[in-house]
Amino acid sequence: MTLPETDSSEITVQDIERLVRGAAQHSDMTPDALLYVATALLIALRAPGDVLEIGTREGGSADLMLELMEQVGDQRFLVTVDPYGDKIYESADGAVLGLYGDRQYTAMREHLWPWPNHWHFLGTAEDWFQARPHLQRWENAVPRPLNRFCFVLHDGDHRAGSIIREVREALPTVSTGGLILVDNFDNEQNGDPVLEAFSPWHVARRDPGASQLIIRRGHGGH
Ligand SMILES: C[S@@+](CC[C@H](N)C(=O)[O-])C[C@H]1O[C@@H](n2cnc3c(N)ncnc32)[C@H](O)[C@@H]1O
Repeated sequence: MTLPETDSSEITVQDIERLVRGAAQHSDMTPDALLYVATALLIALRAPGDVLEIGTREGGSADLMLELMEQVGDQRFLVTVDPYGDKIYESADGAVLGLYGDRQYTAMREHLWPWPNHWHFLGTAEDWFQARPHLQRWENAVPRPLNRFCFVLHDGDHRAGSIIREVREALPTVSTGGLILVDNFDNEQNGDPVLEAFSPWHVARRDPGASQLIIRRGHGGH
């Protein structure tokens, strides 16, 4: 994947690298992985819609996306979704207790409070997909449904079954040409079920080490 030319070409590769270095201070993604997120987001901004992040931790990747959108003069609305509360963290390696609690939640709030175009949903991805049709946000005195996204960053529950379910839930809300980036998609020992589930629509991937998959919403459904 090459770095895109943005219409408001105010942003340079050096700007992107500087923002990535800043975000890496409070993200558990590597700078390389964050650079991939940045590139995908800048491409996805060609499509209409808001931005959604599932799995926020201290707000590193969310902050990066907000900074990038400000830098290119295209301040979309960002919804982040994360339950915190020391929810048992499920991964293919087993359940981990006490990883994401009050410390991460308050750090996220500290990093993201200045952005008027950010809103946090304090729940799981499953809670979000249930609540979303009943939610709206106000913009220029008008209520708008939260039903169209240009970019979804999935970095929450990394079990293949959860990823597949949640990406399937998200896909109908992604606008044509919009992208879903799944971080750490290949945590299972038995092959790549996520890759198999979305093989007709995935357009790019990077691995090993930090595996990331990009799925594109094309015309007529997927
Ligand atoms: C790997 S961290 C996210 C890192 C963040 N994207 C960054 O780069 O800074 C995973 C996050 O997913 C959250 N999480 C776990 N299960 C979740 C679920 N079912 N729905 C949404 N978020 C979940 C955890 O609380 C944790 O904060």
